[in-house]
Amino acid sequence: MKALALFLGGLAACWGMFAGCASAQVQAQAQPVDVLHWWTSTSERRAANQLSAYLGANGVQWRDAAIPGGGGMAAVKVLKSRVLMGDPPDVAQLIGTTLTEWADVGLVLPLNGVATRQRWAQNMFPTVMELVSYQGEVIAAPLGIHRINTILFNRRAFARAGLQPPKTWAEFELAARKLQTLGIKPLAWSDEPWQIATVFESVLLGEAGPALYRELIVQRKSSAWMDPRVERALNRLRWLRSINGDTPREQTWTDAARELLVGNVAMMIMGDWAKGELMAWGASPGKDFGCVVVPGTENMHLYSIDTLAMLVNSRHREATQEKVAELVSSLPAQMAYNRIKGSVPVHRDIDVSSLDSCARDSWDTFADPRSARVPSLAHRMAADESIKDAVAQILWRYVTDPRMEVADAQRRLAAVIRAPGAER
Ligand code: GAL
Repeated sequence: MKALALFLGGLAACWGMFAGCASAQVQAQAQPVDVLHWWTSTSERRAANQLSAYLGANGVQWRDAAIPGGGGMAAVKVLKSRVLMGDPPDVAQLIGTTLTEWADVGLVLPLNGVATRQRWAQNMFPTVMELVSYQGEVIAAPLGIHRINTILFNRRAFARAGLQPPKTWAEFELAARKLQTLGIKPLAWSDEPWQIATVFESVLLGEAGPALYRELIVQRKSSAWMDPRVERALNRLRWLRSINGDTPREQTWTDAARELLVGNVAMMIMGDWAKGELMAWGASPGKDFGCVVVPGTENMHLYSIDTLAMLVNSRHREATQEKVAELVSSLPAQMAYNRIKGSVPVHRDIDVSSLDSCARDSWDTFADPRSARVPSLAHRMAADESIKDAVAQILWRYVTDPRMEVADAQRRLAAVIRAPGAER
């Protein structure tokens, strides 16, 4: 990988230095940019189309290289293999710690010029800037902030049961029992490992609180994983999987959201891209469904921030890539894109009255200095792909194999979650 990076880095270095490179760039600007991403559900597709139309109106053609698969499991593999084959896309949905790893080996085009011109440091949230900065360089264009600790609930189902959405686990348990007696499944569930991990980290944040969550997920202190609060979260996870009283199965997050839409299930714990999907299907927050936070996570924002990285390649598109970064991170593009995607803009100064109620709560919480903002492990904000996958696999084993003791799961998690920089 290093040799390849040096080779690609060398190509990037010619940018702006030689006349030959400059003229190649002029030619290249007319060419479409190849964009690799995993936004293929109805709302994701529409959000990507919105960006592509915005770029188009500003003279940049978007050539779509979408790879389906929730959570980007397949897209990340394809992206890696394209880079190894020496054919990286111009633009890629590269998020979280993967960004810094790739920047480290010179695969990502620095965007300092754009960031300075557009005053990103002044206009965007500090947490966002931290995520896209590495060793003094800005390495990606931020698009939007998703909130993971979200429960979406079907308003009709709750009204039929005469219930308010739950604020505590005790209320959640009561609601689950009542819903069941009415023949409504309490919670949308999927055994896909990344979806299990998505539910788990929200539950963990609620049980552990932000300080322990940071020790577990950010500092990755192995010993902290034996804490009784982790045990409680793991017990809660198994319980959540069991409350429908049926045999849980693997299903896509969009199929799970569909069950919520039609009212077969009453709740779903998922990042707020699921809200975007419900809206794309014609449902409206406030009328058809609502959002509350996972019990115990009030004033906490478990975030996943989508970013586009500009990859170093031999096609001399640097000027166009910078233009892409500038356009997608601009306020008008962000407002339009995030409304469809379910996330919220990364800008600090926006008109919140134009946001839907779920988005407003997400944005307000993220913006409030008194809130706890914590990164998602399941969505690559806190650890690399291999740790994330190992955690998701252990959680999957744990929930699907009733013989696995909770303490055994804790030990296994402690073993795979090593402190940044620790020997593996
Ligand atoms: C996340 C990504 C979101 C959404 C979701 C489901 O990792 O940040 O934008 O696409 O996966 O695929």
